[in-house]
Amino acid sequence: MSRIRSRAGTAALAALALTGAACVGTAAALPADVAVGAAAATCSVDYKVQNQWDSGFTTAVTVTNNGAAVNSWNLTWSYAGNQKVTSGWNADISQSGAAVTAKNLSYNGNLATGASASFGFNGSYSGSNALPTTFKLNGVTCNGDTDPTDPTDPTDPTDPTGPSDRVDNPYAGAKVYVNPEWSEKAAAEPGGTKISNQPTGVWLDRIAAINGVNGGMGLRDHLDEALTQKGSGEEVVQLVVYDLPGRDCAALASNGELGPNDIAKYKSDFIDPIAAILGDAKYASLRIVTTIEIDSLPNLVTNVTPRATATPNCDVMKANGNYQKGVGYALDKLGDIDNVYNYIDAGHHGWLGWDDNFGASADMFKTAATSEGATLADVHGFIVNTANYSALKENNFTIDDSVNGVSVRQSKWVDWNRYTDELSYAQAMRTKLVSIGFDQNLGMLIDTSRNGWGGPARPAGPGAKTTVDTYVDGGRYDRRIHLGNWCNQSGAGLGERPQANPAAGIDAYVWMKPPGESDGSSTAIDNDEGKGFDRMCDPTYTGNPRNNNHLSGALPNAPVSGHWFSAQFQELMKNAYPAL
Ligand code: BGC
Repeated sequence: MSRIRSRAGTAALAALALTGAACVGTAAALPADVAVGAAAATCSVDYKVQNQWDSGFTTAVTVTNNGAAVNSWNLTWSYAGNQKVTSGWNADISQSGAAVTAKNLSYNGNLATGASASFGFNGSYSGSNALPTTFKLNGVTCNGDTDPTDPTDPTDPTDPTGPSDRVDNPYAGAKVYVNPEWSEKAAAEPGGTKISNQPTGVWLDRIAAINGVNGGMGLRDHLDEALTQKGSGEEVVQLVVYDLPGRDCAALASNGELGPNDIAKYKSDFIDPIAAILGDAKYASLRIVTTIEIDSLPNLVTNVTPRATATPNCDVMKANGNYQKGVGYALDKLGDIDNVYNYIDAGHHGWLGWDDNFGASADMFKTAATSEGATLADVHGFIVNTANYSALKENNFTIDDSVNGVSVRQSKWVDWNRYTDELSYAQAMRTKLVSIGFDQNLGMLIDTSRNGWGGPARPAGPGAKTTVDTYVDGGRYDRRIHLGNWCNQSGAGLGERPQANPAAGIDAYVWMKPPGESDGSSTAIDNDEGKGFDRMCDPTYTGNPRNNNHLSGALPNAPVSGHWFSAQFQELMKNAYPAL
C-alpha cells in the first residue's frame, strides 16, 4: 500500500481492511435542500433534492403560505442549468425553457395562512443540478421583504440581525467581494483581465494581516471596500482565518508565526481583534464567510502516531490540543456575530477519502466544534479542496467501474480511495457530518481555483480498458504525477468560475486560494513570515513515502507561499477548464 500525501497531510491507508474488489458506492445519491423564506415573507419554500444520479433527480417541494388565505396557487421558479421536469405528483407542473410553474390540483388549492402544500417530481439534467434560488407564490417572491419595519425579517437590510437571520446559503443571490489587491496583480498579467474581476479569498494569515502587511489593505479596508462593492445588493466577503499555533504541522511551506503553545496569543492577538472588527455594526449588512484554519484538524487524524506518516510536530499539536482549542475558540467568537458564516476546512478527497480517515476526520471536526464554548450551531458549513488541485468531477471513470474484474479502487491512482473527485467527496462528507449531528442544512464550498486541468492534454474520453491503470490514467483529468502532490502543480488550470448553488448540497464553487499565489518556494528563501522550505515544492525532489516516492510535480522558481508567482498564473490561465 502506498501512503498518500495531501497538500499538508498524509493518509495512511487501511486498505487491508478492504478485501477484494467489491465496490461499495457511497457517493451517488445526495440530499440537497434550499430553504427560502422567512417568517415575515408571504411564503416560504423548502426545495429538497432527495435523490440524484448521473442524469436525473427526484425533488420534494413544500410551499408554506404566510400571507392571506388563497384557494388556488401556483409556484414558479427558474433553473440556471438544463434541468427538465419529467413527471410530477400532487401538482400540475409545466415547464417552458428554464421556467417552471407548479399549479395546485383540485384537492390541494386551499392554503390558509400558515398552511403548506407538498408536491414532488422527477427531473433530468446534465452537468450540475444547481438549486433554484428564487420562488414566487402567485407571483410574489417568497423571500421578499413584506414588512420593512419588521425587525425579525432577515431580508430587510436595516434590521438588526440575529442568529436566526442567517440565510441558508449566503452566496445565493449575492455578489462576492473582489479583492482589489489580487485583482490588480491579475490584471497586470498578459490576458489577466479575463479573470481579474473574479472574487477570491482574503487570507488573514498572520496577526499583521489584520491591519495590513507592508502598507497593504487590512481587514477594515477590505470590509469598507466590500460595502462599496455591495451597493444595494447582497455581498459576500470571503476570509480565510489561518494562523493556528504550530500551523501546518505536516509540512514546512506554510509554517506560521505562532509556536505550538501560543494558544493564548492566538486568542488575544488574532481571533479577538478579528472578531472585534467583524462585529462592528458598520459591517452588519455584509455576509461574511470565514473559512476556518485550513489543513489543521485532519493532520491530527492522519499525521500522528501510530500512523507511519506521523510527524513530530503533529504529535505535539495532538497532545497539546491547541488545534481543536483554537478552532473551537474561533468558531465560538466568530459565530457570535450574526452575519458571519463559519465554514471549517475539510481537506479534500485525496487526503480524507480513505475509510480510515473519513469518519475519524468528521469526528475530529465535531470535537473541535464543541470545544472552547463552540457549538455545532456555530458551523454553517465546510470547505473542501482549499488550495488543492483535486478535480471537481472525473467524468471518464467512476469508483464503481471495473476492468477485467479489477475495481477502479485498485488502480494505482485511486489506491483504495472511496472517491474519485471533489464533488462526490464533498457531498458524501456533508452527509456524514449531518449524520453525526451537524446542521442538516449544512452547506459545502469547493475551492475550484486551480482544479480545472484543461488544455490540450485533457483526456477527451475514457482510457483504454487494457488494465485498470490504463483505464484510469488514460481518462483522468487530474494529471498530477501523484494524488498526494500539492505544491504549485505543473499542468494545472483554473477550475469552474465561482458560482452559487452549483450542485446538490454545495453552497458555492469559490476561488479561496487566489490563483497566482505560490504554495511554497522551490528553494529555501529567507523570510519573516515563518515560512519554511518544503521539498515538495522543489521540482527535482523525488518524493518520500508520503507521495509514494514520486516526483513532486512542482513548477520551478517559485517564491515563498502566498507570494505572486507569475509563471503559475500564466499556466493556470492556459489550462483553464472551462476554457477562458
Ligand atoms: C500561505 C499564505 C497565503 C495563502 C494564499 C498559503 O499557502 O501560507 O501566506 O496567504 O497561501 O495564497
